[in-house]
Order: sequence, then structure tokens, then C-alpha cells
Amino acid sequence: DKQLKIALLGLGTVGSGVPLILKEHKEKISQVTGMEILVEKALVRNKAAKAEIAKEYGIELVTDFKEILEDQDIQVVVELLGKIEPAKTYIVQALESGKHVVTANKDLLAQHGSELVAVARKNHCDLYYEASVAGGIPILRTIANSLAADNIHKVLGIVNGTTNYMLTKMVSEKLTYETALEQAQQLGFAESDPTNDVDGIDAAYKMVILTQFAFGMTLHLSDIETKGIRGLALEDIEMAHQLGYTIKLIGSSSMLEESVTAEVGPVLVPSNHPLASVQNEMNAVFVDSAGVGESMYYGAGAGAKPTATSVVSDLITTAKNLRLGISGHQFNSYKNETKIASDQE
Ligand code: HSE
Repeated sequence: DKQLKIALLGLGTVGSGVPLILKEHKEKISQVTGMEILVEKALVRNKAAKAEIAKEYGIELVTDFKEILEDQDIQVVVELLGKIEPAKTYIVQALESGKHVVTANKDLLAQHGSELVAVARKNHCDLYYEASVAGGIPILRTIANSLAADNIHKVLGIVNGTTNYMLTKMVSEKLTYETALEQAQQLGFAESDPTNDVDGIDAAYKMVILTQFAFGMTLHLSDIETKGIRGLALEDIEMAHQLGYTIKLIGSSSMLEESVTAEVGPVLVPSNHPLASVQNEMNAVFVDSAGVGESMYYGAGAGAKPTATSVVSDLITTAKNLRLGISGHQFNSYKNETKIASDQE
């Protein structure tokens, strides 16, 4: 087998899941891609703190991104640092030096996705980010590929695990908002600063990416009316429950007469709707389209294994593209601008 050498930026929850998944599925991955995917280097802040996992998988730890950038053997960079900087600079530099990029960074894709896709295209590199939306659910590939011959009217879903966990526990165990949030943090679902989770911003980022895939349109965060669950009282949740509703933080994006409306906020979901039964940290994306009709995709939206599995699926696609000599084809090539422009003529 040929070897595909990769580097990880970040060796946290998801980062440490990647070598594990690669090891567990080594044989299958080599059959599917004809390659052996090897984690050569990992960029970390503190080498000592990651020494054990590095030793376990034979990964060389570095604290300077240059050591990865200038390593000609490394063909793919997997960015798992999160936030905008330095992740953005590193991704641009990697692409400009001909390295393919896989990332789980929703903040970055939602705010600078078009720019990064343009850099990838210009440099004939792959840029994949399946794990950025709904962790383990293969929703981006499903919309881009499996629903390519369909006309999507609406995408809505529960795309933030932290708030769904909190809302579930506030009903089932009568936990207060604060205790529920603490638990979500301890379980590792919440962002390091959970503000984006509870204020709906994390969900809004994911709706920007889903809108891009479903409707070929790039929204700005400010286009999405966003409300979180901060200040939601236990009494409101219980009252809704008694009336046959479940309060869920729902992100939705719909196409009406060539214009897209997207929003994020707490919604009273009838308790018999499939989205009402999505509990704890689980995510679900509900799609309404002309051909397939209603379809729903359910699964783990966070966590080491589910998210790392999505990251590795991107690595497999990159390996296949390399093998076929078709790197640089974009993950999502649907753009709706032409359609709008011609409609206005
Ligand atoms: N904080 C995010 C969530 C992690 O709770 O869904 C996955 O993006």
C-alpha cells in the first residue's frame, strides 16, 4: 500500500479520536483507499501533556506549525483547533503549499467558508469539513451527494448537543439551567466557552453551512435571527410539556420564492413530531424536499468517536481523490446565484 502521511492540529477530544479510528479500521481503510493513512505529526501547545497518546500512536509532537508546513511528506492537515485564529492562517498556509485540509471547524467555515473554498480551489486542494455540522451525522455528504437530484424546500434541526442536553435534563430530571449546563460541560459537549452554545450562535454557524449545502447560498451570521435558551425558565419548559409540546432549540432554513430565511431559537415542537423525541446530546436534521419528501438524519452531534469518525471519512475521501488524481474537486459545488440572477432579468 501507498502511505498517506497526515498531521493533526490539536490533540484534544476529537484529535485523539482520529488515530484511534484510523487504527481500529486500518484494514478496511486500506481496502477502500488503497492507502495506509498515518498520523505523522501533531501540533500541540504542551508536549508533556500529550506525551502518552503521542507514544501510543507513534506521533511526533511539535509546537511550531512550520514543522508541519515545511514537511514535504505531509499531504493532509487536519485542523481541530477550533475558533478563527490561528486555525484560519494555518489552513490557508497549508492549502497554499499544496496540502489538503480536513477540519471540524464550524466557526471558521460559517464565517470564512467562501474564502477558504476559493483558496482550496485555486491550489487544486481538497477541503472537507463533514464533522463541522452535527458531528457524527453524515449530513453534508448526504445533502451534497444523495440529495443532489432533489429540490430542498426546508432544512431544520437540532444541531447543538449542549442545549439539547440541557433542555432534556431540565424536563426529565428537573435540573436547573445552571446544573444542566455544568453537566454538559463535564461531559465534554459544550464549547470551552459555552456562550456560543447557549446563545444559539453555535447552531447558527451550522445553519450557515447547511444553508450553503441545501440552497447554494452564503448567509452571513447577521442574516440569521438567533435566539438561545438563556433565561428559559423551568416553569416554561414544564408548562409546554403539560400542553403536549417539547421546547427544542431549532435551527431552520427555508427557501421561499428564491429567497432563503434562516433562524435559530427555542420552538414549541409538538411532542409527536420526530424532532421532539431527540433527547440528551443527540442531534437530528430534518429535510423537506420535492423528490424524497420528508427525511430525517439522527445521531451523535458531538463526542470523540462520532466526530473523529466523520473526520476520518473526509480523510478517506481525500485519499481516494489522490488515488484517482481528482483532488481539488469541491465538497459542495452547488451555487444558486445564477438562478437568481437569470430570474431577475
Ligand atoms: N458544542 C457543540 C454542541 C459541539 O454542543 O453541539 C459540537 O459542535
